[in-house]
Amino acid sequence: MSTTEKDPHGVYPPSPEFVRHAHVQGIDGYRDLYRRAEQDPEAFWGEIASEQIHWFEKWTRVLDWQPPFAHWFVGAKTNVSYNCLDRHAASHRKNKIAILWEGEPGEHRHITYQELLRLVCRFANVLKARGLKAGDRSIIYMPMVPELAVAMLACARLGITHSVVFGGFSAEALKARIQDLGASVVITCDGGYRRGKEVALKPAVDEALAAGECPTIKDVIVYKRTGSNVSMTSGRDSWWHELDAALPDSADFCPAVELDSEHPLYVLYTSGTTGKPKGILHMTGGYLTHVTATMKWVFDLKDSDTFWCSADIGWVTGHSYVVYGPLSAGATTLMYEGAPDYPQFDRFWKIIARHRVNTFYTSPTAIRALIRQGDQWPEAHDLSSLRLLGSVGEPINPAAWEWYYRVIGKGRCPIVDTWWQTETGGMLIAPMPGAVPLKPGSGTLPMPGVIPDIVDFHGYPVEPGREGFLILRRPWPGMIRNIWGDPERFKEQYWTKVPGAYFTGDAARCDSDGYYWILGRVDDVMNVSGHRLSTMEVESALVKHPFVAEAAVVGKPHEITGQAVCCFVTLKKGHASEHEKLGKELRQWVAHEIGAFARPEEIRFTDALPKTRSGKIMRRLLREIVSSNTVSGDVTTLEDLSVIANLAAQTDED
Ligand code: WTA
Repeated sequence: MSTTEKDPHGVYPPSPEFVRHAHVQGIDGYRDLYRRAEQDPEAFWGEIASEQIHWFEKWTRVLDWQPPFAHWFVGAKTNVSYNCLDRHAASHRKNKIAILWEGEPGEHRHITYQELLRLVCRFANVLKARGLKAGDRSIIYMPMVPELAVAMLACARLGITHSVVFGGFSAEALKARIQDLGASVVITCDGGYRRGKEVALKPAVDEALAAGECPTIKDVIVYKRTGSNVSMTSGRDSWWHELDAALPDSADFCPAVELDSEHPLYVLYTSGTTGKPKGILHMTGGYLTHVTATMKWVFDLKDSDTFWCSADIGWVTGHSYVVYGPLSAGATTLMYEGAPDYPQFDRFWKIIARHRVNTFYTSPTAIRALIRQGDQWPEAHDLSSLRLLGSVGEPINPAAWEWYYRVIGKGRCPIVDTWWQTETGGMLIAPMPGAVPLKPGSGTLPMPGVIPDIVDFHGYPVEPGREGFLILRRPWPGMIRNIWGDPERFKEQYWTKVPGAYFTGDAARCDSDGYYWILGRVDDVMNVSGHRLSTMEVESALVKHPFVAEAAVVGKPHEITGQAVCCFVTLKKGHASEHEKLGKELRQWVAHEIGAFARPEEIRFTDALPKTRSGKIMRRLLREIVSSNTVSGDVTTLEDLSVIANLAAQTDED
């Protein structure tokens, strides 16, 4: 291990106390697992899958790899819902709390494994009664209520491929996802609560389905959360509770369908480098194995733990580490509906104290926002139940890491900084907390079976310590299988840059201890509050506005959210004088087109955009402008960018 001189923020080895109780003990414990996986990945994953997952039928082969297409646990049969519920309900865990829920207004629900199984079976029977079956697709558009998990698990039980759409997405975004997926049912709520206000969801579903633009949708099932008035379209919309009440007594059980290991479990849309979001496809057996194994390796899960991942289930972190990973591993998973700062800045710390949370997993953006409010908020609460902290979604700056370690973890709790993506399904670079010494800001070492490399523009490995593109040289069980309906884009996006290897789209550096340091995206994807957003998606939204001629969007460094959305806009003739009003209108416009979380921080008007000779917008230049703030103020004078545009046009850069 290197000295602290080389690592200015120090090295934090696990405490002997933590190591003593850890699943993987000491660096040799980690190295042994890693070596076994490296030498014989199929035997390794076969063993993990046999130990941790229930299979109705075993595989004939662990992996069939025909780059870029992988099949994991070929010929095996399993069911994710069965693994998350039935096997625990039939064990000593039957009365253990599976989901511990807190609503934003303050209600609590404690749902045991037995009870969750009953709720999921009943809802699966509702879906069955509507004629839904394996191979159909559903859209789930709900706030963070337990029924969101119930809906996912009921779909998984029957083999209905679900796509959860984050409640912050607009009707437009929802419509695009319904259409791309060809879904036949939308499962939604009247609304949810956020910062004391109702966020209405059903009206957005109505807007998305208006004018017959989503002809594949036959059913809309609405769970009553807020009790507010919603309009119900007869023949299409039904209340969840009414469908439930109409079930026969026998509906408390519904057998889990024995599905192929490669049956599509879910599609999750994420931003890519074009205006159109891509549907990341995850399958059953491999994904389940990956998320279950990492619960033990990285979260060092104990049966007595109360585990809290604060992500919204609308993002991959919520899929893998609020629902599927924790439940498959038999954990108590805490779900919180609302905002971290409601009604006060101590809501997170209050929840941890009240429910005696042992592991807390959140984003650097949330940490930075809470640091700003001062130490008095966490200090007013008893956080002594915590034993492990986690971070995900974006690089964590060492200052935020140290605050999290000192003020929240009281210097006792390791921090697992976990690097992964929607496409990877589960964690790929992350420390095993009882084994791997930590360095603030580094995701540390790869998981067993994961072979990262750092390469240059031509795909050649860079010298140790140098920056380059992060790639993955071997397939792993939770990996993306395809882009829904677009295998060409799948190949082109991830597998052509370095043949046979997966291109992550991130820049990184590996130090002399083999620790990975993620430096951020190298494509046109922004990371705002740990949420992925494509510059092109925002640009497409802007140019739909009748006054906008052209738009270029870049991420601007932001103290709290990591990046903020900054837009350069040129207007059509005749609208040049309306800047202030139009700026506001365009910010609102983007929120309406994509969702409130995508609302731009800044709109800058210009009468020309810097382009290369071949007409490509020079985003790198714009990024420099917004980072160094060489152009000040909200509204750039017209001349500024015209000059740059002219200058740029004279260069040969492409
Ligand atoms: C970034 C979220 C640094 C990275 C799970 C990646 C991170 C993108 C980390 C994926 C981390 C995620 N350190 N950067 N620990 N975790 N990222 O698909 O740029 O929403 O490519 O998945 O977030 O975002 P996604």
